[in-house]
Amino acid sequence: MKLTLKTDVAIIGSGPSGLLLSRLLKLKGISSVIVERQSITHVLSRIRAGVLEQGSVNMMRRAEVGTRVSSEGLRHDGFQITYGDRELRIDLQKLMGKGVTVYGQTEVTKDLYHAVISDNTQIIENAGDDTAITLSSDHVKVTGVSPECAFDIEAKFVAGCDGYRGISRQAIPVDIRQEFERIYPFGWLGVLSETKPADHEIIYSSHENGFAMCSMRNANLSRYYVQCPTNDRTDDWSDERFWATLKERLPSQIAQSLEIGPSIEKSIAPLRSFVCEPLSHQRIFIAGDAGHIVPPTGAKGLNLAFSDIFYLSNALVQYFSKNDESELTGYSDRALARIWKAERFSWWMTSLLHKFDEEDRFAEKMRRAEFQFLCESPDFQRALAENYVGLPY
Ligand code: APR
Ligand code: PHB
Repeated sequence: MKLTLKTDVAIIGSGPSGLLLSRLLKLKGISSVIVERQSITHVLSRIRAGVLEQGSVNMMRRAEVGTRVSSEGLRHDGFQITYGDRELRIDLQKLMGKGVTVYGQTEVTKDLYHAVISDNTQIIENAGDDTAITLSSDHVKVTGVSPECAFDIEAKFVAGCDGYRGISRQAIPVDIRQEFERIYPFGWLGVLSETKPADHEIIYSSHENGFAMCSMRNANLSRYYVQCPTNDRTDDWSDERFWATLKERLPSQIAQSLEIGPSIEKSIAPLRSFVCEPLSHQRIFIAGDAGHIVPPTGAKGLNLAFSDIFYLSNALVQYFSKNDESELTGYSDRALARIWKAERFSWWMTSLLHKFDEEDRFAEKMRRAEFQFLCESPDFQRALAENYVGLPY
């Protein structure tokens, strides 16, 4: 069977970026079709980060999917940074007049997916890796095959929301496309456990043996991370080894009161900084992880995807409602301006808190001096808080 479709915007990828874009366009009467490599079941099962800037919560409300995040999201007015037993609380509410919301990306994706399905928007799932994008001056074609059918989509634009390992970035000619990347010499081992969180706020811990972090999803569901060698596999990390490593890197009084239990999810993610320039070419526009990656230390990945979609959805509405392409033309530069500032912050937080094996003793002294200065400087703390709560769109 062959599915031949015409739509306003073809969207590649049904992660948070693709789903949010589809939903926002639909609310403005603009049609879309989503092509997803995996099954939706797989997409909705992913465990990812969990901190939303106020701007992202506002985007969920704009998409009319803000009910659950408003009632179930955990409002955080600050977080802690620790070095050994030295603790520093960054008081976001006092420094910036706002905090952040802890709400798992899994839940964000579920909320958006249910809205997109209620819109009767077509999602072609299990499309695999062979989807092809053909650009021309006045339209685009997206063709491919899923187990259910071959598909041929004609659209006015295509949005590349297919993540770091997607195909859409390659639609920008290699002689135009520039890629900037920094791969960190370590990864994060993440664990989910049905235990009481270490604290009511997030704790970022730096230790001479490596980084650790304590987060949560609710009062009985904790999310923890420890820095680990890049090539480690989850099989290398028993629950016992994980808990011992976490406790070693936390301040002793937090470690002593830590509730441990069996892991219900365990995964290792590499850390990289990555940006593609430009984020558009002819009638393709790249958004979210397809265009940029940040190390999760600054909790910017999902929040950057949402600001990309803010710019892109507004630009597409401007085009379809007023035949005005100016915001589409300016999309890449506008999105990249905010992306690079978040890249810098995420790189800085990662550099401050992680042990770099090849670093010399001088580098370790620099890390500690930076933390000491942060402890002593309200202005430095405010600069950190300003980035953490999210820079303006
Ligand atoms: N064709 C169709 N879909 C694809 C393809 C492809 N060739 N390649 C990848 N995809 C799908 C993936 O299966 C995934 O569902 O695109 C989607 C991309 O989703 P994400 O990777 O979640 O990226 P994005 O929607 O931009 O969300 C960014 O996700 O990875 C986290 O930390 C990141 O929080 C950030 C958020
Ligand atoms: C999470 O809760 O998964 C989380 C929180 C803050 C981060 C990264 C991940 O910086």
